[in-house]
Amino acid sequence: MTQTLGTCYYPEHWDESLWAEDAQRMIEAGLTWVRIGEFAWSRIEPEPGQYRWDWLDRAIEILHEAGLKIILGTPTATPPRWMLERHPDMLAVDEMGRPRKFGSRRHYCFSHLGYRESCAEITRALAERYAKHPGIAAWQTDNEYGCHDTTLSYSEPAKHGFQTWLEAKYTRIDALNEAWGTVFWSMEYASFSEIDLPNLTVTEANPAHWLDFKRFSSDQVVAFNRVQTEILRAHTDAPLLHNYMGRVLEFDHFEVGEDLDIATWDSYPIGFLSDRLEASEAHKAQFLRQGDPDFQAFHHDLYRAVGKGRWWVIEQQPGPVNWAPYNPAPLPGMARLWALEAFAHGAETVCYFRWRQAPIAQEQMHAGLLRPDSAPAPALAEAKQVAEDLEALGPMETGQGDVALVFDYPSAWAWSTQPQGADFDYFRLVFSAYRALRRAGLNIDIVPSTARDFDGYKAVFVPGVLNLADGLAEALEGVTTVYGPRTNSKTEALSIPLPMGPNLLGCDATVVYAESLPPSAARALQEGGAFRHWVERVETSEEVLWRMTDDAPGLLRKANCYYLAGWPEESTWDRLVHMLLPEAMALPEGLRVRRTASHAFWINYGAEPVEHNGLHIPAAGVLWQSL
Ligand code: GAL
Repeated sequence: MTQTLGTCYYPEHWDESLWAEDAQRMIEAGLTWVRIGEFAWSRIEPEPGQYRWDWLDRAIEILHEAGLKIILGTPTATPPRWMLERHPDMLAVDEMGRPRKFGSRRHYCFSHLGYRESCAEITRALAERYAKHPGIAAWQTDNEYGCHDTTLSYSEPAKHGFQTWLEAKYTRIDALNEAWGTVFWSMEYASFSEIDLPNLTVTEANPAHWLDFKRFSSDQVVAFNRVQTEILRAHTDAPLLHNYMGRVLEFDHFEVGEDLDIATWDSYPIGFLSDRLEASEAHKAQFLRQGDPDFQAFHHDLYRAVGKGRWWVIEQQPGPVNWAPYNPAPLPGMARLWALEAFAHGAETVCYFRWRQAPIAQEQMHAGLLRPDSAPAPALAEAKQVAEDLEALGPMETGQGDVALVFDYPSAWAWSTQPQGADFDYFRLVFSAYRALRRAGLNIDIVPSTARDFDGYKAVFVPGVLNLADGLAEALEGVTTVYGPRTNSKTEALSIPLPMGPNLLGCDATVVYAESLPPSAARALQEGGAFRHWVERVETSEEVLWRMTDDAPGLLRKANCYYLAGWPEESTWDRLVHMLLPEAMALPEGLRVRRTASHAFWINYGAEPVEHNGLHIPAAGVLWQSL
């Protein structure tokens, strides 16, 4: 596979006289792809049914003539103002019951069937006009589903959709009452039409009610996307993609991914470090201008799985962004490092967001490859350098990882519904395991809970999976597997199973109760190290490898099956990884390694050079070796 670069471009933001020169400069910078169109609805269809194709025809022609491959986006994340006249009740509604206003983007409710139909119309119009154009080489649906907290909407259309969804799931209202346990607090329903959305209740709503609402909401995203993919498929064989975000968990990306050919994501390492990562102030200070050394990699591995092997970074941070609490500039070298790291994880393409910084509107403080005055911004030279690196590297392939880590969206919904401790968070738990595996220099494959083929993995990690649904535990028999904490502790409907969990095949262990701990507390282990956030009391007759100071089992084992009765702190995760995997390395802070089938990439997120095993890896730099 040949790796390529690209950028995101908004011809509608610029005078037409700039387009040809922009296209030429993109080619000179070594870019292959240009993504356009995803926010241009008001210019394509200024009035209902009145299409203005002339400008878009010319933009496509110019980009194509210059030799660029175009990714055309459907503009459905930004419905124009007139859409509200057509569908006055299409706005998403927040948990407090307030409609989310027009004036930015993503203001639609996924459950609004009329809006979905309007999206079908614009998608069909675009497909009919451009699907056969030789310049259109891929299509993107919408933009960042779920971003700005938009998956869950508490609207009337959502309520009606939810009632229909529940009826399809349970058929009889008695079955729902039974599954949800509505006898508790006299919450029993006589018909599906009585069921409201779970927001605005006096105290917490029934957890099963919430979990079903989250499942329903995820299904709405899948259905919304599918309307577009079905239309596009009827017109084109070009690959279909969507741009996912970092740490957005409210819909099942694996299910959306089933309808697409390539998973892409939007990687803003410095923004993410400051706005969506739990880390100490010291860690945030150390990586202020580089981003967290594992956050991008986690998503690269996640989206490789979502894309069934095919994935891109379609928006790569080039300089300061505008949306995090603080927006430092990347260290020189980082715009190159991030791209090379993505390629080391198997990306086909990395596109920088955006070509030229916009002098107008919400993102005027967001850097591009060019400054607003068209002079090169610092990332342009780094992008060019990556194009040369790719030439030097030649095509690369991805091999199977050393270890697998299961990631399951419904578990995120379950534990956000019932965290039990204020800082229990599914992503955070899985990411803590991921980081330990990365610190050990291992190649990690993230896999969905529907994965059944674990051949070739040295170990599989299954932390916090709500429910080991049909066949996962069976598929893992004989494979070195680390379960827990919290794995298989609930039914699909978020009740306590009887017999109580974790119910691991042939392993005698029962979690009799669990405790959550505040950040100031830890439960020490006799062997050294500790659990934090979450600790379980397990009764077992199996071998106990670690014990807490009160003798309670901390890690137990039956043959290849391990169960962790708590959430290990960093050094305790490390100890477990080194105990199970003799090839585990102990990498210096900020240094990471990732192997393709042909190369090892040493990636230094540190602001200082690193010497490691005779290698010199420059600050904010990458060194590769042929294998
Ligand atoms: C992304 C989004 C882009 C742009 C960018 C700014 O989340 O897809 O349209 O807003 O962030 O960093």
